[in-house]
Parts: sequence; structure tokens; C-alpha cells
Amino acid sequence: AASERESLYVVSEYAQKYFEDRLWNSEEGKNIGLSYFKERGFTEETIKNFHLGYSPDGRGIFSDEAISKGYAEEFLVKSGLSIKRDSGELLDRFWGRVIFPIHSLSGRTLGFGARTLRNDKKTAKYLNSPESEIYHKSKILYGLYQSKGEIVKKDKCLLVEGYTDVISLTQAGIKNVVASSGTALTVEQIRLIRRLTNNVTILYDGDAAGIKASFRGIDLILEEGLNVRVLLFPDGEDPDSFARKHPQHELEDYLKEEETDFISFKAKMLMADSKNDPIAKANVIRDIVESIALIPDEISRDIYLRTCAQIMEMEEKVLYAELAQLRKKHL
Ligand code: CTP
Ligand code: MN
Ligand code: MN
Ligand code: MN
Ligand code: MN
Repeated sequence: AASERESLYVVSEYAQKYFEDRLWNSEEGKNIGLSYFKERGFTEETIKNFHLGYSPDGRGIFSDEAISKGYAEEFLVKSGLSIKRDSGELLDRFWGRVIFPIHSLSGRTLGFGARTLRNDKKTAKYLNSPESEIYHKSKILYGLYQSKGEIVKKDKCLLVEGYTDVISLTQAGIKNVVASSGTALTVEQIRLIRRLTNNVTILYDGDAAGIKASFRGIDLILEEGLNVRVLLFPDGEDPDSFARKHPQHELEDYLKEEETDFISFKAKMLMADSKNDPIAKANVIRDIVESIALIPDEISRDIYLRTCAQIMEMEEKVLYAELAQLRKKHL
């Protein structure tokens, strides 16, 4: 199995180089892929730093080239780069797309995300490598290889949804950032962060899906014993689109000013539709105390409970009783 993994690394490394070569050195790649990245505001330095690439628009071009270079069909298929038809023909998984390689902590290429250049609803926006011996989606954070040093230095990790959010923030000088690649954050991903810092700030998209995912992320992160803060973007914006619309100092100010503790965030979001209704307010408080109850450390729970009492203008005593009830369920 160790040699199988090694073969998968080797073929993935080759594919990354191939896609990069097509982006920079083919007419099609330059006209379509490179100009797409540049229209998104990515600099050449950024494109190289993240090893972005382009897969030519034809169903077997990559696979044919890889076979002719001596790469084994077995590992092309196991890596998911190629798909074998019943007829025996090898087809490419990614074609006519821009490529985002996904790296391990030590910089090995594990898999790929591939974005369509079309704007229709019928085409899946992103295709990703399937699970393999080296690519386990739930255990990978996009951008971690590029950002790990900065996460340690800042003692803080910014968590975004997507590939382009990581890339745009990094280019704007905010480099302590990783993506959960979609909204389903996992415990394994949080444990990867915990090796570097105890402080996470969630910067998910400013839409209903992003808000919902932030709520889930808060609880998962608290449960793993980390500190979590949240920063919401304006409706319809994500970190990438925001970074593109605002100069660097405005982005920095926004990140500094809008970041809030998770209690204020939940209170603001949940109170929005409950106005002055006391029953609704009670539910909001219960919801927040449920999150606090997940925190493993007693002293931290205590501090957050006081914050909650203040924000919600409640007596601490009442909240302690609720917390004690909820903690019993954990034991
Ligand atoms: N994603 C995915 N498959 C999809 C849609 C999304 O894997 N069909 C993952 C990708 O990692 C993507 C992230 O979820 O980067 C966030 O999705 P979304 O916000 O829709 O995309 P953006 O990253 O904002 O991409 P873009 O700005 O290019 O539209
Ligand atoms: Mn590199
Ligand atoms: Mn989104
Ligand atoms: Mn986006
Ligand atoms: Mn997005």
C-alpha cells in the first residue's frame, strides 16, 4: 500500500506539472485559462504560488499524453485523473477547465479541483478528485501548505469556503487562510488547524448556506476546544469578491472591525427575526447556551456564559441552571 500511495503521488505530481505547462505554454491555455485567472485579478506570482493550471478541452488529451510518457493506467484511474470506459478507452476527468491543485501539509499534490469556465447552470461549477489512497477530502484543508507558517506566526487561522477565497486573500496580504472546500467542515480538518493554533475565525460566504454552515462550524470548533470567532460578509459577497472590490486597507479594516465572538454573532443572527418576542428570545438564549455547553474547558464555559448573560441582558444564575442541565447530557 505504501508503494501504491507513492505511485499516486508520482502521477499527481506529473498531472500538476502537465496542467501548469498547458496553462503557460499552450495557445489554448493562455487564451482561455490564463486570461480567466487574470480577469479574476490573480497575478502571475499568485498563479505560480498556487500552481494553478489548465486542462485542454478534449476528452482524452491528458490521458493519452500520460500513457505515452509511461504512466501506468492503473494509477491514472486510481487517482481519478482518468476514467476507463467499458470499451477500454481512457477519458480525462478534467477537461476544458482551470485547475486548482490540492496539497498536503508538506506540499505533495494530493488531488485537484477543476472549475468550469462556462456560466450556465447545467455544468457543475467545480469537479474534484474522487477519494483515493492519498486524497481524503474530509482530512484536507485547501491552502494549508501555503499558509501554515503564517497561521503559526499570527496564532490564528482564517477559515473560508472556497479555493478562490484562499487565493484572493493571500494575494491581498492576508495569508493565514485555509478553505474547507465547500461548507461541510469536519472534525479532522479542525484537528489539522489545532496543530498550528487554537484560534479560528470563520469567514464563510454571505448567503443563507454560508450562515448555516457558520453555525455548524462554530459548534464543531468549540467541541474540539478551540476559540472561534466569526466574520460575516455582505449579502452575496464572499472573501474573494469582497477582496476584489476593495483596496487592501479597506479589506484589512473590514476584517478587523467586523470580526465578532460567536455569541454576538449567534445573538445577532437569531434575534433578527424574533424582535421583542420573549419566547423567541428564550429560544435564542437556549441555542447559545447549547453551543457554550459543548466547550470542554470549564473556565472557558464560565467566561462565555457571562458574556452571553451580558449580551442577552439576562441574569447569569438562570443561564448557569440551563448550562448545568445541558452538561448533564454530555456526561
Ligand atoms: N465546491 C465544490 N463543488 C461545487 C461547488 C463548490 O467542490 N459544485 C466547493 C469548492 O471548493 C468551492 C467551495 O465549495 O471553492 C465554495 O463554493 P462556492 O462559494 O460556490 O464557489 P467559489 O469558491 O466562490 O467559486 P467562484 O468564486 O469561482 O464562483
Ligand atoms: Mn511551490
Ligand atoms: Mn458558497
Ligand atoms: Mn466566489
Ligand atoms: Mn463563494
